[in-house]
Amino acid sequence: MYLINSLKKLALLGAMEKSVKLSSSEFMHYLSTSSKTAARVLKQLEEDGYISRQLVAGGQLVHLTEAGVTLLKNEYADYQQIFCKEQADLELCGHVITGLGEGQYYIAKEGYMSQFRDKLDFKPYPGTLNVRLMDHSTQLRDNMDLMQAQLIHGFNDGERTFGGGKCYPVEVDGIKGAVIIPDRTHYPADLLEIIAPVKLREALGISDGDEVKIVVKNPCNCR
Ligand code: CDP
Repeated sequence: MYLINSLKKLALLGAMEKSVKLSSSEFMHYLSTSSKTAARVLKQLEEDGYISRQLVAGGQLVHLTEAGVTLLKNEYADYQQIFCKEQADLELCGHVITGLGEGQYYIAKEGYMSQFRDKLDFKPYPGTLNVRLMDHSTQLRDNMDLMQAQLIHGFNDGERTFGGGKCYPVEVDGIKGAVIIPDRTHYPADLLEIIAPVKLREALGISDGDEVKIVVKNPCNCR
């Protein structure tokens, strides 16, 4: 709890958008604690992968990592669940398209598969259904940031490194699945990649060009 509060303070100081210069003795005032505890908290946050730090003269440059931001967003989603029970699910519409044929290779990797099974409670069909969002849905997509994400960690399979990402539980025309968003910076804003326990093309009888409705479940309405 102490760590989340400290992370929240760092975000309030702007460390989500950019590196913020800070000394332990400055940070102790924000936390109302001793300088020793403030230093320990910063070290712990770094070890847990929630912030990155760079020592500079007179302090350190602190920046929240993707994992740190996700932790805060999940905390926020919990508060949404507590305070705004009537929040709507997010509905996005798009058309089925064929991707680069790479989804199969990535999803089938055990390093990802085991995380999907643990975090999403289903074993995905090996592949991703690619959906090109319509204009309005492309704009709405940013709201997904406020929904509760499951963090998928990167890993190394002994030959190469595989990047991390985030998953959002969804329903595609009523079938349970998840949108996966890789941590790559240049990702097309109108593309969604969906995994599901079944082959959606067969289960829904859909093919390229068909319209699908993706409902991103608001955590308030999931439980
Ligand atoms: O070739 P592409 O990148 O679109 O697909 P893939 O990720 O290699 O997946 C193989 C095929 O299964 C593609 O036609 C996907 O659209 C489809 N698929 C599906 O229907 N349902 C899923 N849950 C995953 C993939």
